[in-house]
Amino acid sequence: MEKLSELQKLRLEFKPVLPSILRAGFSSIKPKTGKPTSSVADAEKLEGIFEHNFGKPVITFTKGKNSFVNKKPLKVGVVLSGGQAAGGHNVIAGLFDALKKHNKKNKLIGFLGGPSGIIDGKMMEITDKIIDSYRNTGGFDIIQSGRTKIETPEQFEKSKNTIISNKIEALVMVGGDDSNTNGALLAEYFSKENAPVQVIGVPKTIDGDLKNDMVETSFGFDTATKIYAELVGNICRDVNSARKYWHFIRLMGRSASHITLEVAFQTQPNIALIGEEVLERKMTLSQVVDTIVETILERADEGKNFGVCLVPEGLIEFIPEIKELIKKLNDLLATHEQQLRAIEQIHLKKDYVYKILEPRLADLMKSLPAAIESQLILDRDPHGNVMVSQIETEKLLVEMVEKKLRDMKKEGAFKGKFAAITHFFGYEGRCGFPTNFDSNYCYALGYNAVVLIANGLTGYMSSVRGLTKPPANWIAGGVPLTMMMNIERRKGEDKPVIQKALVELSGKPFMAWSAMRKKLAVEDNYLFPGPIQYYGPDAIVDATTKTLQYERGGKKK
Ligand code: FBP
Repeated sequence: MEKLSELQKLRLEFKPVLPSILRAGFSSIKPKTGKPTSSVADAEKLEGIFEHNFGKPVITFTKGKNSFVNKKPLKVGVVLSGGQAAGGHNVIAGLFDALKKHNKKNKLIGFLGGPSGIIDGKMMEITDKIIDSYRNTGGFDIIQSGRTKIETPEQFEKSKNTIISNKIEALVMVGGDDSNTNGALLAEYFSKENAPVQVIGVPKTIDGDLKNDMVETSFGFDTATKIYAELVGNICRDVNSARKYWHFIRLMGRSASHITLEVAFQTQPNIALIGEEVLERKMTLSQVVDTIVETILERADEGKNFGVCLVPEGLIEFIPEIKELIKKLNDLLATHEQQLRAIEQIHLKKDYVYKILEPRLADLMKSLPAAIESQLILDRDPHGNVMVSQIETEKLLVEMVEKKLRDMKKEGAFKGKFAAITHFFGYEGRCGFPTNFDSNYCYALGYNAVVLIANGLTGYMSSVRGLTKPPANWIAGGVPLTMMMNIERRKGEDKPVIQKALVELSGKPFMAWSAMRKKLAVEDNYLFPGPIQYYGPDAIVDATTKTLQYERGGKKK
């Protein structure tokens, strides 16, 4: 039996390129301090909540003598939080190598199974041997992940006790917007308690919705979109060969439609729905169905009874009437948690919900297919989010499109054929071997986190920027977590959270898509990006996402 595949062996040897600024000894890397910062909104409230950490300056590392850092041995803890994203192992490799470069006696401790590992004190030391068998590999299996939120006073206390009793001086929280919010709250708690523990966040999520001026992309987005694009491209070719099916493909990405938009650029399907546009245009579910039907009719007129339609998994949350229903359900499910937990059968759960829901919203919910009704009342994640990965929006759309076309056929308004196949590409994209971009980016994020720690900083996110340039030229530094925050309603209460970056309709990526989509709807200009390449011409192996090229690289069309 083989222990490793050939690619596994090769990837273990890949050497990520470190930004040149981080290659010097720590005493030759100087933090340049920017102006005090604010938050994206609700500054006054946030200042009250984050008394110790609000308003810190942005940090950029430059060359220069740094007498602050000393070689005193450091013990750092790391936790992987939330959904898997390719490159997590390289964040840990970057942390490990930076710590060992600084002082051989430094130690890296991995908390097991996500934030619950901190609460319950489950951890392991990362050694040379361990890290060397995970370099440049996908997945989070080195220490696993979890979605537990550290929220009750007991959980904060237990976390502090684990960290202090194990003499850990800094915690690196690798996570998405919610996990990094949790990181910010932990940083504040440690400051308040005078506990000598620093907290540094690392931006992770395939969804691509953790980004701003200082965080150009979250890691995992590059790899996931390339994996989905390969699969979607293959389907486009199948569609174009068989010419008998419409494929409705739901793509992961939670609320934001960044993944769908990026995959649309990479494959050029006939339709790509963008949730944020549906919200902006206040489209009802039946209007969304109408726009799909319009393209089906247009193509049928040309004798093309086939096509590809991309559906972002968060679409359902953006349809205003359903958004309102979900918002109400989020609140009700939180306030009636105990009662609902006691009910086992789903139809009885639904009956209970119908009694407490406004009749208007209950009628809307009852009008949806039974499976969707049940999926809407599934448990929320620990941060109060509806689990859109479990809602089969693609099937809902196909059912409604079929009905509409049946009715039109009866009236003689549709003469074509419509046979649909549905897919959901989600979990397939999260654990592939990280692309060279994600391998380099994650390694740099981890390495940079240690430089932030060595400079005594807390409440910051590791920030590596200038990502459309070669990795050697990337800029490194830190951005205060509170700078990305606002107040939002979660589980029926107002909470400080890092604001999700949704697709901006005035942003370059969406504008580019809206300029090309009309043609793509009828013409078949499918692109076939093929599988991710790790070795070969730079133009292929180092290509960044189109989203990044539009947003940061000045790409026009
Ligand atoms: P994160 O935001 O934690 O990175 O998770 C992203 C994601 O992959 C979403 O795209 C998806 O909706 C969700 O996780 C699925 O969650 P789970 O793995 O808990 O089923």
